[in-house]
Amino acid sequence: MARHSVVTMPGDGIGNQVLPEAIRVLNAVGFEANYIHADIGWECWCKEGNALPERTIGLLAKHKLGLFGAITSKPKKDAEAELNPELRSKGYSYFSPIVTMRQRFGLDICMRPCIGFPGNPLNFIRKRPNGGFEEPQVNVVVFRQNTEGLYAGVEWTNPPANVRTALESHPKFKPFANVKGEDMAISVRVITRDAAILIARAAFEYAKKFGYKSVTICEKPNVLRETSGMMEEAAKQVAKNYPGIPLWSTNIDAQTMWLTKNPEDYGVIVASNLFGDVISDAFAGLVGGLGFAASGNIGSEVAVFEPTHGSAPKYAELNPPIVNPIAMILSAAMMLDHVGETEKACQIRAAIAHVVKEGKVRTYDMMRISGGANAISQGAASTTQMTDAVLCALEGVGAKMMVAVSR
Ligand code: NAI
Ligand code: MG
Repeated sequence: MARHSVVTMPGDGIGNQVLPEAIRVLNAVGFEANYIHADIGWECWCKEGNALPERTIGLLAKHKLGLFGAITSKPKKDAEAELNPELRSKGYSYFSPIVTMRQRFGLDICMRPCIGFPGNPLNFIRKRPNGGFEEPQVNVVVFRQNTEGLYAGVEWTNPPANVRTALESHPKFKPFANVKGEDMAISVRVITRDAAILIARAAFEYAKKFGYKSVTICEKPNVLRETSGMMEEAAKQVAKNYPGIPLWSTNIDAQTMWLTKNPEDYGVIVASNLFGDVISDAFAGLVGGLGFAASGNIGSEVAVFEPTHGSAPKYAELNPPIVNPIAMILSAAMMLDHVGETEKACQIRAAIAHVVKEGKVRTYDMMRISGGANAISQGAASTTQMTDAVLCALEGVGAKMMVAVSR
């Protein structure tokens, strides 16, 4: 019997193209698993009025481990217009299935490694003052609080009277007192101490386990004194238990500037939900962008791994598919780490490193050409060709490991 059961949620668009590629790679490294398909995404919304059906929640609750591709989401008006006419005006409203999944299963920890593969033409380079350039090795892992903050979903346009009254009790609300309800939108930024401590501890534990030199709390406590203040306080409290690892504190705005100045100086970064989302995308941009950006959503019981890219609808219908499967494959490797199959995960990363360094097989994004039907005729590898190259490199990696073991 297979040792693991993995709920596979390809979702929409290119999610359907990249997820099967990751499974090919998982099979090649000998990961023993059953894969159980589950529905998620736009079609579920349109047909059923729920982008994350209860049956999918049930499968995740049962099997605890998920691989997710990507979903499409659209603005409120489009969501209403595309909903099955029989369900209209019955109180259905669209919620992001990923946000719902994170909240429903308490996937409090979002881990996003931003680690450059040497030789990747998309890596960040920096001009030297005296000419030429250098390519710093970026090795950052972002720990983003995944369930609260500004993404908690507590928001209104035209807040109800009791909310309005509560807001008016705050002296800083005075300038807004005469704004009409329909002209006012409010999103609440909720930070709880327990969740702040949990994410800070996860960051420090990771830094300790993998020898990172520092942990940076990236917030804005000088302005967001309460919420960012609590995040920073939690990080300081947790840091006391890790005397060998210094805690740095940066402001999100300054950090996005410094990130292209000295990205190699940062190790583990911890942040609240929105700031973690921003800073992880920003760092991902230095190491290859969306084609390389993997992530894990980790709770105490359930964990779901996904590339950070979306469904890229404009490429979803291309045949052969052209998008880069590496982000999805790296997400699958993170899943292997999570279930203790570290060696298989390392083999996958080594194989990808080999393909990137060799530079013979590159998807369109790695060639810096625009994607589209003629990307292939310009020399870009298709999605499956990229996976084939990784599989081929895996054979080499496997052989090298056999030699190392037999020595
Ligand atoms: P996107 O990530 O789908 O695509 C943006 C662009 O990035 C693409 O047009 C393409 O040029 C490039 N790209 C993305 N993935 C790539 C890959 N694997 N290889 C090479 N290039 C890649 O973001 P966009 O266009 O803003 O959103 C499209 C849909 O996806 C929207 O409905 C959005 O709501 C949804 N979305 C879903 C996410 C998720 O499922 N986690 C995350 C982000 C967006
Ligand atoms: Mg994002």
